[in-house]
Amino acid sequence: MRTILVSGGAGYIGSHTVRLLLEEGYRPVILDSLVTGHLSSALPEVPFFKGDIADGLLVRNIVQDLGIDAVIHFAARSLVGESMQKPDLYFHENTAKTNLFISALLSAGVKRVIFSSTAAAYGIPEQVPIPEAAATIPVNPYGASKRMIEQSFPWLEKAYGLEWISLRYFNAAGALFDGSLGEHHTPETHLIPLILRTALGRQEQISIFGTDYPTPDGTCIRDYIHVLDLAKAHILALAALEKGVGSGVFNVGTGSGHSVREVIETSRKITGRNIPVLECPRRPGDPAQLVAEADKIRTTFNWSPGYSSLDQIIESAWAWHRKNPDGFPH
Ligand SMILES: NC(=O)c1ccc[n+]([C@@H]2O[C@H](COP(=O)([O-])OP(=O)(O)OC[C@H]3O[C@@H](n4cnc5c(N)ncnc54)[C@H](O)[C@@H]3O)[C@@H](O)[C@H]2O)c1
Repeated sequence: MRTILVSGGAGYIGSHTVRLLLEEGYRPVILDSLVTGHLSSALPEVPFFKGDIADGLLVRNIVQDLGIDAVIHFAARSLVGESMQKPDLYFHENTAKTNLFISALLSAGVKRVIFSSTAAAYGIPEQVPIPEAAATIPVNPYGASKRMIEQSFPWLEKAYGLEWISLRYFNAAGALFDGSLGEHHTPETHLIPLILRTALGRQEQISIFGTDYPTPDGTCIRDYIHVLDLAKAHILALAALEKGVGSGVFNVGTGSGHSVREVIETSRKITGRNIPVLECPRRPGDPAQLVAEADKIRTTFNWSPGYSSLDQIIESAWAWHRKNPDGFPH
């Protein structure tokens, strides 16, 4: 049985990945500082270490005591707006701390890492769908902080034999279908949770930022990927490294997108609730369309999304929000 250290395993994507690792016969171990995560998202049977990825002593002890075979590294700050206000925080938390984390892992003998990267690494795309080979010119410190780690990997591979896969996620969304686990960020900035909070009457209206984009209905188009399909991509990436597929960067998206208005319409249909909207001007730095070219992950890992129709994403997210309108208790 493979033992996998999951940094950020008490966060949104990490907690869903931990569930899937268990189902697929792995032994997950969580390292999480709880800076944005939730202890109550973690299962009692999964070893949990409350601590920082930059704590090298703790990391080396976990590796030695639990026999870690590989790492899935989710832990990061991920608010684009906050990164514009406090770029130093993002280069410290995401770039510098990840570098310390990887150094500690390598010195303890762990050579396999799956890294959470982001479509924000591309910046404003020149072509859509976006292939992995597209230019990476981030337009915010969040995207830059992740891209810098990707740039360090080939050097660490050359010097120390690090085997790495960087997954560039597009828009993670959805939840477990039984409503027992889902998305709870504070502040929440993601479209689907904000729409469903509006459906629940927790906020008055949902703001649409920009209705004059060059898209069929004038609103921005994004590629939504169900969190369970995203979790599966990590497990296939681990297996690929074990099989010697080799290091590299992979987009994780469906290859097609939905507009903001489409997401709101589908949410109205699924919830049966009135969801008032407020049309606002564009936000600076929002590209009209962000859609992944997803051929590389499909062909290399034999991955395909199983839950990422807009209906499935919103049905599962609605199950979570309706059951847990206040999110996790702690
Ligand atoms: N949610 C998305 O749509 C999306 C899209 C692209 C990329 N990502 C990336 O995926 C990863 C997970 O995102 P999420 O939405 O689950 O975020 P999240 O905030 O829910 O989870 C991050 C987790 O990491 C922990 N953490 C943060 N800094 C830490 C540190 N220094 N030491 C230990 N633990 C720490 C937090 O407590 C939290 O549990 C992030 O790296 C994010 O940048 C997310």
